Amino acid sequence: MIRKFLARPRRPASGGPTPAEAALCREAAEFVRLHHAEEPAPGGPERRLAQVRDEIRATGTYRHTIEELTFGARVAWRNSNRCIGRLYWRSLRVRDLRGLTDAEPIAEACAEHLIQATNGGRIRPLITVFAPDAPGRPAPRIWNEQLIRYAGYRARDGRVLGDPRNAGLTDLALRLGWPGGPRTAFDVLPLVVEGVDDKPRVFELPRHAVLEVPLDHPDDPWSREWGLRWHAVPAISGMCLEIGGIHYPAAPFNGWYMGTEIGARNLADTDRYDLLPRVARRLGLDTADDRSLWKDRALVELNRAVLHSFDRAGVTMADHHTESRRFVRHLEREEHKGRPVPADWSWIVPPMSGSTTEVFHRTYDAAELRPGFAHHPEAAARARGESIRRL
Ligand code: ARG
Repeated sequence: MIRKFLARPRRPASGGPTPAEAALCREAAEFVRLHHAEEPAPGGPERRLAQVRDEIRATGTYRHTIEELTFGARVAWRNSNRCIGRLYWRSLRVRDLRGLTDAEPIAEACAEHLIQATNGGRIRPLITVFAPDAPGRPAPRIWNEQLIRYAGYRARDGRVLGDPRNAGLTDLALRLGWPGGPRTAFDVLPLVVEGVDDKPRVFELPRHAVLEVPLDHPDDPWSREWGLRWHAVPAISGMCLEIGGIHYPAAPFNGWYMGTEIGARNLADTDRYDLLPRVARRLGLDTADDRSLWKDRALVELNRAVLHSFDRAGVTMADHHTESRRFVRHLEREEHKGRPVPADWSWIVPPMSGSTTEVFHRTYDAAELRPGFAHHPEAAARARGESIRRL
C-alpha cells in the first residue's frame, strides 16, 4: 500500500481533478460497474474505468460507447418511478445522434423520430439522443415538453383556445415568428429548438410526421361532432437523460399512450380541455348535483371514446387495467432478478377507477435511481416559454 502510494508521482495541487471532475468520475464509475454487472464483458469494468478516468482528466468529460448509451437509456426508463409502462424497458430503441448540435438538423431528426416511433400506428418505444452537455458548451435544447403538443392561444378575456398547458410556449413561438395555425383547438405547435451557441428557432413539423386520431364514441356521435382528436405518440422532449454523470438534455423519447392520460387528464382536467361538463350535459346528466356523479359518468364515456377511437384507427394504446397488470408482472420479474423497482404511488395509480386496478393495493419505494430521466426546473420554464437567457 505504502509502496504503491510512494511510487505514484504526485500531481501538483493545481493539476488535480476539479471537484466537478471528481464527481463525474464517481458517477461514471458507478454506472460502468452497473453496466458490467448486468452485461458482463471480457476484462470486466476496470479497464473501461481507467479509460474513462483518463478521458475525464484530459477533456473534463467522457464519451459513452454505443453499448453504454443503449443500456443507460433503457435503465433510465426502468428507473422512471412515475411510469406504469416499464415492463418493456428492454425493447427501447436508441438512435444515436450525439453528433447533432445545430437546431435545424435536430428539428429534422425529431420529425424522423416521430415517423419511426409512429410506425404506421404500431407505436415503437424510441429515444433519440442528441449532443450532451460538455464543459463550457451547454447542449442543444428542445423547448417543447413533448414533440407534439397542441397550441393554446390566449384571448384578451384570458380564455384559451386549445390546450391551456401550452399557452406560454404558444406565445413564445408566435414571438419567434411562427404565424400560428388555423386557430382550431388542436393546432400542432412547431418545435422550438435551441442549437449550441444559437437562439431558439421555430420549425413546423411536417404533417406526415404527426399521426392524429379523431375521437369517436362507440354509441354516440358527440366527440366527432365536436372535432375532438389527439395525437398518437407521446414523445417527451423536456426531460434530461442522465447516465453516469453525463447529461443529455435533448433526448426525446416515447412509449405509447394509456387511454386515461388523454381521457381522464388532457381532455378532462379543468385547467386543460375541461370537457366533463360538456359531455355530461350532452348525456343529459344533472350537473348541478355532485351526487348525480355526472363527472364520474362523463369521465367513463370520454375514456370509452378514446380507447374505441385508437383501436379503430389501429394505433397502439394501452388501457389502465391491462397496463396495471403488466406493471405488477414487471415488479415480480424485477424482484426475481434482485433489482429494485422505484415507484411513486401517486403517479402509478391510474387517474380513474384507481381501486379497480392491482397497482392501487400496495405500496412502493420511491427512490431516485440513476441512470434516469430528470426534470430540470429550467426545462419546465422553457416549456412555459420563459427564457433563462435573454432572447
Ligand atoms: N401524460 C402525457 C400526455 O398525456 C404523456 C406522458 C408519457 N406517457 C406515455 N404513455 N409514455 O401527453
